[in-house]
Amino acid sequence: MRDVAIIGVGMTSFGEHWSKGFRELVVEAGTNALKDAGISGEKVDAGFVGTMASGKLIGQEHIGALIADFMGLNPIPITRVEGACASGSLALRQGIMAVSSGMHDTVVVGGVEKMTDLGTTGVTTALGGAGDQEWELFFGATFPALYALMARRHMIDFGTTEEMLASVSVKNHKHGSMNPNAQFQNQITLQDVLNSKMVANPLKILDCSPISDGAAALVLVPLEKAHSYTKKPVRILASAQASDTISLHSRESLTGVKSAQIASQNAYKYAKLSPKNIDVAEVHDCFSIAEIMAIEDLGFFKKGEGGIASLEGRTSLGGEIPINTSGGLKACGHPVGATGVKQLVELYWQLKGDAGNRQVKDANIGLSHNVGGSGATTVVHIVKGEW
Ligand SMILES: CC(C)(COP(=O)(O)OP(=O)(O)OC[C@H]1O[C@@H](n2cnc3c(N)ncnc32)[C@H](O)[C@@H]1OP(=O)(O)O)[C@@H](O)C(=O)NCCC(=O)NCCS
Repeated sequence: MRDVAIIGVGMTSFGEHWSKGFRELVVEAGTNALKDAGISGEKVDAGFVGTMASGKLIGQEHIGALIADFMGLNPIPITRVEGACASGSLALRQGIMAVSSGMHDTVVVGGVEKMTDLGTTGVTTALGGAGDQEWELFFGATFPALYALMARRHMIDFGTTEEMLASVSVKNHKHGSMNPNAQFQNQITLQDVLNSKMVANPLKILDCSPISDGAAALVLVPLEKAHSYTKKPVRILASAQASDTISLHSRESLTGVKSAQIASQNAYKYAKLSPKNIDVAEVHDCFSIAEIMAIEDLGFFKKGEGGIASLEGRTSLGGEIPINTSGGLKACGHPVGATGVKQLVELYWQLKGDAGNRQVKDANIGLSHNVGGSGATTVVHIVKGEW
């Protein structure tokens, strides 16, 4: 098995893109990534792209072929990968395995979703398919409702408060205000979150990630060749994926995500690192409670202490472990298939020192945590600046 490195990244801004379609978004991100890596399309051997629900959202399937065509990459193979909101990270894992195994040398990985063409009801139904359609969505348990159940249990078991939940959104909007690609660049206060309209008690609209359009891409090569493209490649230290029950009611616990605990433990083992070694992390904050559970599941804070840690600012820029410097799903936006790849784009910029005024000082090791559905799939990557 060969070590693998990222040599270039690109993304569109996230948000409502009324003048760009799915294919324009993915071509923009892909072209930016190739340009950043300093290579042309002829150099690419294969591609993997994550998208969750293009059929329901825009009526388009056969995404691999569409992208090969519009990126001018025919006849190389481009394969679509789907794992709900973790689709982007799954595409990255496929790309890593393709390069690591020696099957391909230069692989482009992309993630894309175009969600805003459909109204909220249509999007909510499409996203609900990431849970158990027969036993959750059919009975009205949408994603905000499922995460609200987790939030309520966390509050009962550990004394987590609505202020603690709100502090996650306040911090992520603050980080998003420093990211020109973020959907929301406005800062908000705890009171703004607490006074915002209720979506699924106790989660208000400002506890939720939005409905977004966007795409992100990156280029992978074997580590041994990476320095011939860039002085500062970012090495993949670990790629781990774990699964759990599709429905929430079958879980042992509602206050943590077992697949995230297992995937992160494996990732730390592969990388020979512990949570203390991570300088910066992008985690899956689809709802404020999801970030609190993530920082516990990843071992940054003890079980039950994620809420107070957030409220105390320990996860902010300048804190002991800066979480979601991009603004996270909450403020940067959550075009679901693109999110897992965008997390690596942000980490790449952070590790190279290219993150502008949201730069984490001396960041050298980063972690991404990308969850599908309510936790039936989790993918964790650990990356390191290699220079
Ligand atoms: C929370 C949610 C239901 C709000 O949808 P909505 O009530 O239809 O809201 P609208 O689209 O009508 O937007 C109303 C306003 O709120 C803003 N808004 C919508 N969602 C927002 C969010 N999550 N955060 C901040 N502002 C938001 C809109 O920009 C709009 O502002 P404007 O009036 O200034 O233009 C929707 O964003 C949602 O479903 N989010 C969760 C997505 C999800 O489940 N993802 C997968 C996770 S696993």
